[in-house]
Amino acid sequence: MCGIVGYVGGKSAQEVVVEGLRRLEYRGYDSAGVALVHDGAIVGDKRAGKLANLDKALAEAPLPESHTGIGHTRWATHGGPTDVNAHPHRGSRGRVAVVHNGIIENFAVLRAELEAAGHELASETDTEVAAHLLEREVSAGADLAAAMRTVSARLEGAFTLVAVDAAAPDRVVASRRNSPLVVGVGDGEHFVASDVAAFIEHTRDALELGQDEVVTITCDEVSVTDYAGTPVEPRAFHVDWDLSAAEKGGFDWFMRKEIFEQPHAVGDALLGRHDDAGRLQLDEVRMSEDEIRSVDKIIITACGTAFYAGLVAKYAIEHWTRIPCEVELAHEFRYRDPILTRDTLVVAISQSGETADTLMAIRHARAQRAKVLAICNTNGSTIPRESDAVIYTHAGPEIGVASTKGFTTQLVACYLLGLYLAQVRATKFGDEIAAVVDELSAMPARMQRLLDDAETVYAVARELKDVRSVLFLGRHAGFPVALEGALKLKELAYIHAEGFAAGELKHGPIALIEEGMPVFCIVPPRGRDFLHDKMVSGIQEIRARGARTIVVAEEGDRSVDGYADVLLRIPASSTLLQPLTAVVPLQLFACELATAKGHDVDQPRNLAKSVTVE
Ligand code: M6R
Repeated sequence: MCGIVGYVGGKSAQEVVVEGLRRLEYRGYDSAGVALVHDGAIVGDKRAGKLANLDKALAEAPLPESHTGIGHTRWATHGGPTDVNAHPHRGSRGRVAVVHNGIIENFAVLRAELEAAGHELASETDTEVAAHLLEREVSAGADLAAAMRTVSARLEGAFTLVAVDAAAPDRVVASRRNSPLVVGVGDGEHFVASDVAAFIEHTRDALELGQDEVVTITCDEVSVTDYAGTPVEPRAFHVDWDLSAAEKGGFDWFMRKEIFEQPHAVGDALLGRHDDAGRLQLDEVRMSEDEIRSVDKIIITACGTAFYAGLVAKYAIEHWTRIPCEVELAHEFRYRDPILTRDTLVVAISQSGETADTLMAIRHARAQRAKVLAICNTNGSTIPRESDAVIYTHAGPEIGVASTKGFTTQLVACYLLGLYLAQVRATKFGDEIAAVVDELSAMPARMQRLLDDAETVYAVARELKDVRSVLFLGRHAGFPVALEGALKLKELAYIHAEGFAAGELKHGPIALIEEGMPVFCIVPPRGRDFLHDKMVSGIQEIRARGARTIVVAEEGDRSVDGYADVLLRIPASSTLLQPLTAVVPLQLFACELATAKGHDVDQPRNLAKSVTVE
């Protein structure tokens, strides 16, 4: 939540910072602002609303030339989305400007202290106290980095702060606790940002910052210390994607582009993780064979779409390994006092690697001595850094707020993990594992066939653009797919959508069915006769009550023909892998329906891409 950028170098700071904000706008779009150091003073502008409003203001009243600057795109927490509450915030004399991501939990106490000392604060934000405190420190003679260490140590909660001081025009200083921050290392220029997308057009070399660290960037140098001032050596990494991955590439939305990237992303997620004989090579799990054999319970924890990937994983992992597997929303997990031992494997799934609820869940798990394995898409992010091991999903940057390729690559990582555990524990024969690996390798081509026929789904979406409610039904691994289809529609189209386990219908939800109500029905493959036939009966029951059935069924399954008002065919797959294809029409449907309604698909209202506050 919130995107922040800082820059020092030979280019126009305004241009670099505003372009960086454009790439981070998916993190929050309630307001945007910049502050630059020019001629011993801070200059800047900030506007409520999307970045376009700031662009317009800067075009009408350009800021003077500067090579040092910071910027912010906001997802509002404390104080509504107004010009005054927009970041950057300044100290009382306007010497220091600050941008912030996170929540300063003790801001009320600090604000009262500042007001008692005669400070007047202009906004309702928690951030402004940091600007005043920093300015007080530098006015008393501290340099900006020392001031940042002193102030950060007094703050409670989650924060990344990035600051400039009018009296130190050659530097930007930043601090992080429980909130993302990476450093971009260029030639004669440096960057700090919430994620690498902000500076990817300038450099692909980056540094990870640890918890409770302060970084100072100048043109030539990066120095990092902890809050006590002890120097720290940050870990360097190279970003394995480039600017084109962070652009729309001819698509109208990032989301649509990311849906279409899935065959490639799923292929990348499999790359190098098995040999030609289908034997898994997953050293990333970093557990000895003895440790793997002693795992007696798996708990998967995640939020939103990543949680639904976890629900699918439960079916696969329990079936292949016979290890009991629980799946729990991260924000519920740690408050229920879960039973964790050294033999519990906790798997945290997160596309961004920054979701605060998931981060807090893994901290709790590690404190109980459980082993934590992250499944994550973002190199340099906090969740993998704080886990014992990580399986990266290699999906490339996911910028649309609605997760798509994030989900399908998480599924692949979960399947690989399940198969690897089965291989080590010998709960499946090698040829059985190799058969699943073979089928996984066939999935990109199956997904591509669905995408080649996207227009069929788009036509249904456009026709249904004015519906008020849509239901999604699935069974077994199709149940999480139904939940995911409903979530996509809620977050993009803002209409009532719910996913149900089809077997639950008669226990209540069937009362919702009324004449003409669209109901997506995810039909299990025919290989599972008992599941398949029960689903077909369910479809008949809702159709008899007036539902308009949109049936997602495998090619060649004629048993559903008579009960489908709309039939969407997917390539035949095994039951456990079917989610990889079954979700694609649901993603296309939500994207197109929201487009037809005139919504901003990449930046749905009230949301932000990574939820970095609890
Ligand atoms: O970055 P994460 O995978 O941890 O994010 C978890 C959820 O916030 C995320 O999946 C969210 O539900 C998406 N907007 C769904 O499309």
